[in-house]
Amino acid sequence: MSDRKSKFPLGDLGVVKVFAPATVANVVCGFDVLGFAVNEPGDVVEMKLTNTPGVIITKITGDDGRLPMASEKNTVSASVQHYLKHINRLDVGVEIELHKKMPIGSGLGSSSASTVAGLFAINNLMGKLLTAKELVPFAMKGEELACGYGHADNVAPALLGGFVLIRSYDPLDVISLPTPPNMFAAIVYPEVDVPTKDARQMIKSKVLLKDAVTQWGNVAGLVSGLFMQDFELIGRSMKDVLIEPTRSILIPGFDDLRKLAMDHGAIGFGISGSGPSVFALTKDKETADKIVQQQQQHLKNLEINSKAFVSAVNAEGPRIL
Ligand code: HSE
Repeated sequence: MSDRKSKFPLGDLGVVKVFAPATVANVVCGFDVLGFAVNEPGDVVEMKLTNTPGVIITKITGDDGRLPMASEKNTVSASVQHYLKHINRLDVGVEIELHKKMPIGSGLGSSSASTVAGLFAINNLMGKLLTAKELVPFAMKGEELACGYGHADNVAPALLGGFVLIRSYDPLDVISLPTPPNMFAAIVYPEVDVPTKDARQMIKSKVLLKDAVTQWGNVAGLVSGLFMQDFELIGRSMKDVLIEPTRSILIPGFDDLRKLAMDHGAIGFGISGSGPSVFALTKDKETADKIVQQQQQHLKNLEINSKAFVSAVNAEGPRIL
């Protein structure tokens, strides 16, 4: 990589500010293998190169003091460090400000949005040495740090935009899928804490063959539905017999939230990532607005605070601000 080093002298580099999107992992039936990105919410990273080697976090806002500042513990700095090691530029100094613009532990890929913003920023500052797809393994390191397992179904869509399939983890095989036009996501985050680490530990590690058959039929159906722009097929396929029965217990009023979504015109409904956020896919923004309004009212009746996000599927991944 020494040729790359000489091509990108530090003096030519500067400062960059990047937004990276939240993501809905699993998309109900595709545990660890499907995800999509939304336009909002998301996180912002400001990054500056310096002449003092090492990656440091100088400021974090919007996290209520919950995220570590220590370089080796923070997913942003740790993944940037992995990246610099890979491109043989450990001589570079990096200062990072992380601005959390989305709830932590919400099931919306919060750590992933921060990590991806950081990796996109450093890759830009270093002259775009890697493609978005090549950044996925570095972002997975951040997920490993955040929840103990380097799953890619948040970081890959956050980096690539749109719907993404992780066809295989070993070797890593990441496939971008098409997004049907006008598709919207109606997301509601009930403000109860469900750390991904805990939500992963509660899942059964063995499945019945008949359930596996149901599940892979639905994954194939969902992927086909995206290609065919067939909303009915997408909706029929958004069923999860493996994970949702266990995890939904942690989400207050889950069955009623589903009923409200489906009664008001959702294509399909389920848990976003490991929860507690839930999401519905819709054919237009008006339907999505109506669903979140009804669901938030229901949660209010249960005396649970919530936040709502209505967004088109994000097509571009991270962007420079
Ligand atoms: N696939 C992961 C899980 C996503 O369900 O644990 C976490 O956001």
